[in-house]
Amino acid sequence: SEARASGSFSFNFKEVEAGVDEMHHVAEGYDADILLRWGDAIFADSPAFDPLNQSADAQRKQFGYNNDFIGFIPLGGSDEHGLLVVNHEYTNEELMFPGIVTIVEVEKDGKKVKKAEVAEADRARIDIEMAAHGGSIVEIRKEGGKWQIRRDGRMNRRITADTPMMLSGPVAGHDRVKTSADRSGVEVLGTLNNCAGGVTPWGTYLMAEENFHGYFTGELPAGHREEANFKRVGVPGNSYAWGNFHDRFHVGKEPNEPNRFGWIVEVDVLDPNSTPKKRTALGRFKHEGCETIVNKDGRVVIYTGDDERFDYVYKFVTAGIYNPSDRTANMDLLDEGTLYVARFEEDGTLNWLPMVHGEGPLTAENGFESQADVLIESRRAGDVLGATKMDRPEDVQPGKNGNAFVMLTNNTKRKDDQINAANPRAKNAFGHIIEIVNPDQDHAATRAKWEILVKCGDPSIAEVGATFSSDTTQNGWFGMPDNCAVDAEGRLWVATDGNSPADTGRTDGVWAVETTGEGRGTSRLFFRVPVGAELCGPCMTEDMQNFFVAIQHPADEGLDWEPFGRPSYFEDPSTRWPDFSDGMPPRPSVVVITKRGGGKIAI
Ligand code: FEO
Ligand code: CA
Ligand code: CA
Ligand code: CA
Repeated sequence: SEARASGSFSFNFKEVEAGVDEMHHVAEGYDADILLRWGDAIFADSPAFDPLNQSADAQRKQFGYNNDFIGFIPLGGSDEHGLLVVNHEYTNEELMFPGIVTIVEVEKDGKKVKKAEVAEADRARIDIEMAAHGGSIVEIRKEGGKWQIRRDGRMNRRITADTPMMLSGPVAGHDRVKTSADRSGVEVLGTLNNCAGGVTPWGTYLMAEENFHGYFTGELPAGHREEANFKRVGVPGNSYAWGNFHDRFHVGKEPNEPNRFGWIVEVDVLDPNSTPKKRTALGRFKHEGCETIVNKDGRVVIYTGDDERFDYVYKFVTAGIYNPSDRTANMDLLDEGTLYVARFEEDGTLNWLPMVHGEGPLTAENGFESQADVLIESRRAGDVLGATKMDRPEDVQPGKNGNAFVMLTNNTKRKDDQINAANPRAKNAFGHIIEIVNPDQDHAATRAKWEILVKCGDPSIAEVGATFSSDTTQNGWFGMPDNCAVDAEGRLWVATDGNSPADTGRTDGVWAVETTGEGRGTSRLFFRVPVGAELCGPCMTEDMQNFFVAIQHPADEGLDWEPFGRPSYFEDPSTRWPDFSDGMPPRPSVVVITKRGGGKIAI
């Protein structure tokens, strides 16, 4: 119904019907406008997008691929004028490049099925892929109720897998990050697989490096000291052939290069020539995101999850205090502080274990010679500290009441004898959300409480064990929570990754989830994506009138799956969203949702 349900559901909108088709769908009374598409010009001199003749030079001046995290950094304090900062997580070659897919028949479970095979990459294609990674910073402005990008924006910038960056903090200059191209161990080229992220209170852009392992190929020399380290993070992952043309992605040739990825990158967006800094004090792992909050004592707390089955939730507490009246005083706050890893106790206590060299088991005896070793091998440090192995920690978002929400997307590999209170389902296909409740609203506390907000999945199927409230309709349930946002009223919006038509009869989307009162655990569908896409980066402006969402990889149904009687690939995709014109491939795009006629969203 359109009215608020007697105070138990604090969001006011008419729910979208779950389903699947070629389009996006938003709740009645709202506009969902395309703002930025892959290939869009973001500088006055950017070449027009020509998908049949793409080049790395052109891509470096155009919006990148697979938009993930979105942040809005107001200019002059305005919610109608600012910098949109957007991560470009990875590339889908089969959807980006013409003529590189061949359809072959293979045997699967005794049946012949079609599978799309992607041609091996040449140098030109790899350089486009590298230029399509990273991030974009684009000035945008709302005029006459509609958002426009400003190509002449002085701060507009593309960051790619080649952009010069610096390592800062305890790992900078350490032997384990020195390479033949950088004997100082300080200068790195580029950032990889930037999934979610954050915006700091002082208005910098944080890019989280997630699945960096996939970019490395080759074999380490036998007995190399990084063997155990690389095994723990899955290097080489061999997802991309960049190492065929760029030695630094070949671990046989540059064994230390992978230690220069897996960090949080901080970008000063006000200076388009600034050198982004990899803040090593925040640890090295597959960072999903890095959401910040100023604690009541002025220290800054950053929550960050490691998205892999059986990996950990972390937080970082700065040593210094945020200075709201002097931006430059905050610029190196992230270099000093304490990293903690989470242990979710069975009784609902949350213990944050400090990751400090020399404390507890983090000693030379266990292979940690210095704080740099603890940070480079954060996962192994978490292992020896006895952190809780989680069901793929994605976004961790501070709320407005000293609380925080942890998205745990799924973990079908968890066995019956591996369940614990915080990860209570074996073969957890649909994930769950945990709420952290800090004592006295103190985000820096080393002991807190936790409880499960909701176990996800279809509540009408008893075996699934979902715990959405009984007010949740068939449209309102979801699986695979991934990114989330908390609006100015403290309400939770959850974006998903992996609700596929084959498994769930629905696409991914944004759901409004009640977290307080009688309606706790009630969820309603607000927006859904076109077929094959995933929903990332939900970001609402402080005035609650603009909701930016990132539609990632439309038409990506996987290379061996034919739900619509055809594989998804450049020439015959299952949707040509958002352009719907022949010859134009489906394009990952940022969409901005506003209330028709203006006003706050879902109020
Ligand atoms: Fe890039 Fe954890 O999703
Ligand atoms: Ca994610
Ligand atoms: Ca978020
Ligand atoms: Ca995702």
